Amino acid sequence: MVTRSRITVVVALALMSAAAQAHREGEFIVRAGLAQVDPKESSDSLEVAGAALGGTGVGLDSAAALGLAATYMLTDKVGIEVLAATPFQHTIAAKGLGIDRVGSTKHLPPTISLQYYPLNAGSAIQPYVGVGLNYTTFFQESVSGQAKAALGASNLELDDSTGLAVQVGVDWHLSDRWLLNAAVWRMDIDTTGTLDTALGRVKVDVDVDPWAYMVGVGYKF
Ligand code: NI
Repeated sequence: MVTRSRITVVVALALMSAAAQAHREGEFIVRAGLAQVDPKESSDSLEVAGAALGGTGVGLDSAAALGLAATYMLTDKVGIEVLAATPFQHTIAAKGLGIDRVGSTKHLPPTISLQYYPLNAGSAIQPYVGVGLNYTTFFQESVSGQAKAALGASNLELDDSTGLAVQVGVDWHLSDRWLLNAAVWRMDIDTTGTLDTALGRVKVDVDVDPWAYMVGVGYKF
């Protein structure tokens, strides 16, 4: 009988601690971790004075940075999240231009999302989905030595982008306050790059449309 009452107590404690782990209206959840942006870009051909240069294009590599996401719970199940990060730096590859690299750029992709947490209070694991708006600003664009030497390139600029972002994520509570977190976003990021060259001003439209991933820890208060 001791065994049975022990089991009852253990189950009751487990339920109580689980109940304390759900996200609650009015809470802040701060999540920090390693963030990776993996562009799934598709590039139009480069254009000079409106004429497309067939077989040309650009590409972007992946980049990692420190990500920070803060959620405020509007209700027990709906939160609003702001995603921020330290700058991501990407190499811009060249296709069909006889050089490897056009240059590089940094970007910041702040994103604000409305999130929905479907599970009830009893679950220490809280998955969520979100939809929101991404604003991406490109800065410190620089031309590679190759592009300067081969094309006389200078003044690389990438337009800022505003677009939709969708996400899924999961919080795994370690305690009432600490949690592990993993999240993935797909962001609609489109930009136009411009570059002065010996041929004239070059323009290229690129859909960057990356997947972004973050794995880290979170704290609730
Ligand atoms: Ni796009």
